[in-house]
Amino acid sequence: MAQRPLNVGLIGGGAGAFIVQPHQRAIFFDGTRRVTAAALHPNPEIAMKEAEIWPYPITGYTSYDEMIEQEAKKPLGERIDYVLIVTPNHVHFDPAMKAIKAGIPVFCEKPLTVTLDESDKLVQAVAAAKIPFCVSHTYLGHWTSRFARFIVQSGLLGEVRWVDSYYIQGWLADRAEDQGVMQAEWRVDPKQAGASCCGGDIGTHALMQLRYVTGLDVVSVQAHLETFVEGRQLDDHFTTYCKLSNGGKALVRASQISIGHKNDLGIEVNGTKGSLLWRQEFPEEVTILLPGQPDRTYFRGSVGPNDGFLGDLPEQLMAEPTIPPGHPEAFHDAFARLHRCFEQDVRAYQDGKPFDCDGSQYANVEDGRMGIAFVAAAVASSEQSGAWVDFK
Ligand SMILES: NC(=O)c1ccc[n+]([C@@H]2O[C@H](COP(=O)([O-])OP(=O)(O)OC[C@H]3O[C@@H](n4cnc5c(N)ncnc54)[C@H](O)[C@@H]3O)[C@@H](O)[C@H]2O)c1
Repeated sequence: MAQRPLNVGLIGGGAGAFIVQPHQRAIFFDGTRRVTAAALHPNPEIAMKEAEIWPYPITGYTSYDEMIEQEAKKPLGERIDYVLIVTPNHVHFDPAMKAIKAGIPVFCEKPLTVTLDESDKLVQAVAAAKIPFCVSHTYLGHWTSRFARFIVQSGLLGEVRWVDSYYIQGWLADRAEDQGVMQAEWRVDPKQAGASCCGGDIGTHALMQLRYVTGLDVVSVQAHLETFVEGRQLDDHFTTYCKLSNGGKALVRASQISIGHKNDLGIEVNGTKGSLLWRQEFPEEVTILLPGQPDRTYFRGSVGPNDGFLGDLPEQLMAEPTIPPGHPEAFHDAFARLHRCFEQDVRAYQDGKPFDCDGSQYANVEDGRMGIAFVAAAVASSEQSGAWVDFK
């Protein structure tokens, strides 16, 4: 018999909001999850009005407090099975903590929190409750990210010497915050965004992509947080030079003032035996470069085991649901893959079965905390004119 679909409760995501939209499409992707409830806005009246005009019927709540409290009283099967937090950064910690305490798994947008102290508390709470927790680092959900991770960690490129991991945008090159762009207004406000705009918003994605693909950690950082647009309190350009846990080095960099760049997230890994290149704006391709051999660009869907070069490939990687080659996968598929993997852990948790939540399928709460520790170390380094700052 088919399983009942999981019920998802949205926190944030009312009219004009951005990231809720790809998420809610990804939730419905497989037919095994659906949105059933929401607290869409901080103003209770607007929250209820927006729930009424949501494109399909959902139960609206005046606040996330009310949603968590009321839903937690319902029996399993009728209540929400997990919350999706898509509010500005300063409204991640409180709803996440309340959901954990109510026994409701959490799918939370990045960056995890605005302070390291809050992240530490969430890590402890998740460990105590043994509850699934995903931090929404979207790009881990691309099949090609999974493939890149396998290639680098299989040793094909040898020992990793150098990584350039970047996320370059241009949408904050002028004062979008004065032009009614709500996504810009809160991102440049330290109270809502945290200690860094560009680093917290997209530098954390570049860091996570490095950590996921290479399996290495950044252990020490020299950083420059710069503000090119006059009058801003936070950085709109973020550059870090990093020491890696294997002795290698890396650039983790981000910009929001590079006119012409849209969502130019990418990674280049240089090992002792070869290199790998991946870019999210071309998410179907992974390029592998080995000395004395032709450059190889693999396309998702055309990758197969034992093609004369690759050898065996992990069963789990090959079993990931995809569509036939030539029908492109992209952003929404990446979100769907994260929700699909998270769903498995939520079902296991509800059945009292073991679940991994080990960071191999999606970023977990420790990964989210690492992003905040990275930003804190980068801010400290930048304040000391780029001195080395260690962090764990
Ligand atoms: N994973 C990604 O690729 C990605 C991309 C963009 C944004 N994000 C993250 O997603 C989050 C939201 O970003 P966005 O660009 O969608 O922002 P947004 O401004 O478009 O939407 C934020 C929504 O939260 C609502 N909100 C604010 N406070 C609330 C409260 N107390 N209760 C209920 N709703 C509340 C707002 O009304 C709005 O609907 C941020 O943390 C951001 O960093 C992640």
